[in-house]
Parts: sequence; structure tokens; C-alpha cells
Amino acid sequence: MFATTKLPSEDELITYDGASLQFRIHGQTCEIVEIMVPGESRRSGRGRKMVDTLCQICKRREGITVVYAITRANNRIAQKFYESLRFDVSVLRDFYEPGVQTVDALLYSRSPLGPV
Ligand SMILES: CC(C)(COP(=O)(O)OP(=O)(O)OC[C@H]1O[C@@H](n2cnc3c(N)ncnc32)[C@H](O)[C@@H]1OP(=O)(O)O)[C@@H](O)C(=O)NCCC(=O)NCCS
Repeated sequence: MFATTKLPSEDELITYDGASLQFRIHGQTCEIVEIMVPGESRRSGRGRKMVDTLCQICKRREGITVVYAITRANNRIAQKFYESLRFDVSVLRDFYEPGVQTVDALLYSRSPLGPV
């Protein structure tokens, strides 16, 4: 069962069967702040269903043209996940700075209506 709640930070949270997706609307864009599916229930469609639900929410709120997420470039599973949902990808060089070594990020974006 899906539930959507508002957080004190003004972010919003979609929960579904132990999994969660935190998002934030900035004007015409919607950021996926974090998506997390518990290890034992991964690969059974929960992540995809939550992103589909988010896109439905964005369609109902007029004017939102882009849904995006930023992940570490070395998160291969997130990469496969967003690619499978037909998000476009761009590289953000040296986005993260953990200690001495910087890490690139990947920016995934898509229309809430689906891939263009
Ligand atoms: C990324 C994450 C949210 C995916 O959730 P999920 O519920 O396992 O994903 P789904 O079952 O909906 O998978 C949808 C598609 O994504 C791709 N995919 C997901 N996990 C994959 C994996 N481990 N290997 C390869 N492809 C994968 C597949 O194409 C999959 O479709 P299929 O199972 O029909 O082949 C989950 O792995 C997770 O919580 N990871 C840790 C947190 C994280 O890295 N979040 C992203 C950055 S904030």
C-alpha cells in the first residue's frame, strides 16, 4: 500500500511495503532526494512502482516538467535502475568531495510524462 506524507523539511515521502522515496519540488522540477528499498526485497519492482507513483503525483501538480536524481557515479545498481526507467543521464564532474579524492556524480532526468 502506498502512502505519501509531508516531512518537517517540506520534502515529501512515498512509502511502499518497507521501501521509501523522498522527494522535493523546486518550481517546475522534482528532485528524488533518496530512494531506498530494503536489501531483502530489492529487484521485485518496488523501486519502479515508487518512481511511477512519483510521476503520477507530478502529473497531477501542474507545471512540473522534469523529475531528476543525482547519484554517485560508482553506484552501478542505481545506474541500471534509472537507465531501465528510461531517464537521460549527464555527468557532473567532481560533484562529491570525500576527503582527498573527488567523485563524479550522474544526473538522471526525465519528464514525468515518460521518456521523450
Ligand atoms: C536502486 C534501488 C532503489 C532499486 O530498487 P528495486 O526495487 O530493487 O528496483 P526494481 O526491482 O524496481 O528494478 C527495476 C529495474 O531496475 C534494474 N535493476 C534494479 N536493480 C538492479 C540490479 N541489482 N542489477 C541490475 N539491474 C537492476 C532492472 O532493470 C530492474 O528491472 P528487472 O528486475 O525487471 O530487470 C535499490 O537497489 C536500492 O535501494 N539501492 C540502495 C540505495 C540506492 O543506491 N539508491 C539510489 C541512490 S539515492
